[in-house]
Amino acid sequence: MLLALESSCDETAAAICTAEGEVLASAVASQIEIHRRYGGVVPEVASRNHILHVRPLVEQVLAEARVTLPDIQAFAATSGPGLVSSLLIGTSMAKALAVAEKKPFLAVNHMEGHLLSPFMAGNGPPRRSVALIVSGGHTMLIHMTGVGDYRLLGRTRDDAAGEAFDKIAKMIGLPYPGGPEIDKLARQGRPDAYSFPRSFLDGSSLEFSFSGLKTAVLYELPKLDLKNEIVLADVCASVQEAICEVLVEKLVLAARLMGEKLVTVSGGVSCNRGLRAKLTARCEKEGLTLLLARPDLSTDNAAMIAYAAAQRFQLGHTSPLEADVDPNLPLV
Ligand code: KG4
Ligand code: ZN
Repeated sequence: MLLALESSCDETAAAICTAEGEVLASAVASQIEIHRRYGGVVPEVASRNHILHVRPLVEQVLAEARVTLPDIQAFAATSGPGLVSSLLIGTSMAKALAVAEKKPFLAVNHMEGHLLSPFMAGNGPPRRSVALIVSGGHTMLIHMTGVGDYRLLGRTRDDAAGEAFDKIAKMIGLPYPGGPEIDKLARQGRPDAYSFPRSFLDGSSLEFSFSGLKTAVLYELPKLDLKNEIVLADVCASVQEAICEVLVEKLVLAARLMGEKLVTVSGGVSCNRGLRAKLTARCEKEGLTLLLARPDLSTDNAAMIAYAAAQRFQLGHTSPLEADVDPNLPLV
């Protein structure tokens, strides 16, 4: 069994999984309500709250899994990318547990957690596929041939998809984090009410750009009566449609270019209902098999970190205790 901690941003999380990747316990302490007051994550506040939550969470997952510390074979934590002061809390705790229990420590890349999450909950093992990772900080297309064998096909040139959702939501007066708010309101709106730009770049590009969309919404703002619920819902549905169409089309294109039939989608934005529906329909039409991360495994959690650590541990990987955190840790 492995115990993993996640504290890269504003969620403190702990999980225990078996070496085969079966999750025995998983708990998340969200700080969303605290950071909402500031309209975004305040790193110092996040770090202090990680300190408050991390130990109770470890005790909670041990109790849930009905195990004690000596039963754990290895301790893992997210070591990047993320906020330095936040990453330090999870890694310090995992290293301390590893030292105290005389067990190995594993530093996990947060993006590998997202990347492998669609293979959890019975969809494993991780295998050849084209992956779309869409989170608050990243938008990437990856060609994966096995655990640790990843090739970057494209990423965003500016904002991440989640960042675009959050920034546009803020512009139209919705609370942080804006992605789920837009998702909720979009259900009552018409996706073709406004034709916001889709940035496909040149036809075969697997890179993304969402800054033009943000600017387009900004220019449209003075003309919009956002107090009118119908207008607000239409804007949300149209923004969501513009973001999701590009994500879906680029994933399909990447799969075609790589000659792969299996595609996966993960990261917080993969919770988006519009995106899930569009992906399901489009992949069926293209004859692609789609693995979507389960919504509770899409937003930040430690179960995906434990799962990634288990995959690495099975391959004989461990990390030195000197392994530092890295806010810009690359996946490839
Ligand atoms: O993966 P994640 O929890 O954290 C990062 O690693 O960044 O992703 C958070 C992002 C935020 O930008 C949030 O607005 C977005 O995922 N998000 C959504 C939805 N749920 C979360 N975006 C659109 N629709 C949603 N339902
Ligand atoms: Zn994440």
